[in-house]
Amino acid sequence: MNSKFLLREWQLSDKKSLTENANNINIWNNVRDYFPHPYTEDDAEQFIRMVMDKPKPLTDYAIEIDGLAVGGIGVVPQTDVHKITTEIGYWLGEKYWSRGIMTGAVRQMVEYTFENFPVTKIYAPIFEFNISSMRVLEKAGFVREAVLKKSAIKNGKTIDLYYYGLIKGQNAERLTSGLA
Ligand SMILES: CC(C)(COP(=O)(O)OP(=O)(O)OC[C@H]1O[C@@H](n2cnc3c(N)ncnc32)[C@H](O)[C@@H]1OP(=O)(O)O)[C@@H](O)C(=O)NCCC(=O)NCCS
Repeated sequence: MNSKFLLREWQLSDKKSLTENANNINIWNNVRDYFPHPYTEDDAEQFIRMVMDKPKPLTDYAIEIDGLAVGGIGVVPQTDVHKITTEIGYWLGEKYWSRGIMTGAVRQMVEYTFENFPVTKIYAPIFEFNISSMRVLEKAGFVREAVLKKSAIKNGKTIDLYYYGLIKGQNAERLTSGLA
């Protein structure tokens, strides 16, 4: 099983592979409703063009395995009084799950984000049932800071959000002290 991956820019030739991997209800059930389902090649093209048009530094990267874009990771820098923070989001084609790939991708994205954006905190609100995503964040040094009760609705069900955060400078300490 290959657990090697690369974070790289999205390109139009990723359309087919993006569609094949993103068109999956097991992914959609764990992400926001704006993620298309079913996921068509038109959706893929629209996404890639939107990302390619964004100004630098890039906020969105493809996760490439064996030469194919099979997942995505991105940050959404916030505005106004929240401008010191950015949200992080990610997904991966199901056949590549549980190989440690997203943990590695999140670690890389965290380093890149703190180097390239004027933010001091990265956060993610995780659906209450998404244990593997919580595990990814914990392995990457994030801390569960709060449970936001009844804060989202997915598939018609009101759910809690588990809010994970990582503050610049504290990640390395946590990882080296064995707390993560
Ligand atoms: C969440 C997701 C990104 C994880 O990617 P991944 O590459 O499989 O993650 P990793 O392999 O790095 O880590 C997953 C961890 O969760 C664990 N895990 C997986 N399913 C689990 C479950 N049902 N219960 C408990 N732990 C579970 C794995 O064993 C692994 O932990 P370990 O290394 O301690 O054994 C992937 O499953 C995905 O794309 N899901 C759908 C979209 C999504 O949830 N996006 C995130 C929205 S916040």
